[in-house]
Amino acid sequence: MKKIELQGKTVVITGASSGIGKALSVEFAREGAHLVLGCLPAEKRALDAHAAHLREKFGVRVAAVPADLATEPGPRRFHAAARKAAGRIDVLVNNAGLMAYGSFHELPLERQMQLIRVNTIAYFTLMRLFIEDFVKAGGGAVLNVSSISAFQPTAHHAVYGATKAFVQNLSEAVREELRGTGVSIMTLNPPYTDTPLLKGRDFPRKLWWYAVSGLSTPEIVARRAVRAFRRGRVVYLTDARSFILHMVVQRVLPRRLVAWMSYYVLLKRGN
Ligand SMILES: NC(=O)c1ccc[n+]([C@@H]2O[C@H](COP(=O)([O-])OP(=O)(O)OC[C@H]3O[C@@H](n4cnc5c(N)ncnc54)[C@H](OP(=O)(O)O)[C@@H]3O)[C@@H](O)[C@H]2O)c1
Repeated sequence: MKKIELQGKTVVITGASSGIGKALSVEFAREGAHLVLGCLPAEKRALDAHAAHLREKFGVRVAAVPADLATEPGPRRFHAAARKAAGRIDVLVNNAGLMAYGSFHELPLERQMQLIRVNTIAYFTLMRLFIEDFVKAGGGAVLNVSSISAFQPTAHHAVYGATKAFVQNLSEAVREELRGTGVSIMTLNPPYTDTPLLKGRDFPRKLWWYAVSGLSTPEIVARRAVRAFRRGRVVYLTDARSFILHMVVQRVLPRRLVAWMSYYVLLKRGN
């Protein structure tokens, strides 16, 4: 495992206006990395305030670059604007994401399409563009924020889980292709984490499954993730409980049983 030095490097983070992305920006700044932070255009003012706070507290350069990653030109525009803002970029953190909870055939089609655009097309496009830059420059790294949902079917948020499985497989395959280039890829696979993502429309206020899986905080996830990233980890689950559930238990059980269990585990019960 090759260690990654972050001091003085430039890190691009999408979806840095809240939750895990915002917490990651704090941890990368703490390591002395300069930042380019992405957000939706409507969040630019709030992100500017966060950027000013990071500059003052950690003495690093921080640029806020708005772009709607759900649009067709959004990811390419974001890539161009990030390069213009920072010049050389060393690390891409694909983090911006959406969730939709409900029946596959009842959720609005446009919402599902938007989720697919942000969670897969934007991840893929930014990986594709930045990795080309990194290979030409002889080095760089990608941190793809995936999920524990990437490892098995997730009834009631089936499309979300499928987008994370896409990111997981793409990351692990491309990582192997990049041998010898100086470019690495890590996936971060957080458990359920208390962020606005889980407070959106329709998502159950409390899943009984939290009693088994736990509910993490963005600060804990980000602190552990940046430490693991620096150490050159490949697939990183942030806690032992997630590791046992998603890397051990679900792998030894029949796949059909795991899918059946996901129906009950993630079922909304009266809230
Ligand atoms: N929370 C969990 O339980 C959990 C668990 C595992 C993995 N994850 C993953 O962690 C990542 C961050 O999620 P989070 O939990 O921190 O949720 P969050 O607080 O809702 O953050 C999502 C971020 O993505 C941004 N975003 C959404 N749509 C966008 C678009 N079209 N263009 C640009 N930016 C957009 C949001 O901007 P706005 O604030 O402006 O909407 C926000 O900054 C996601 O990839 C998620 O799948 C989360």
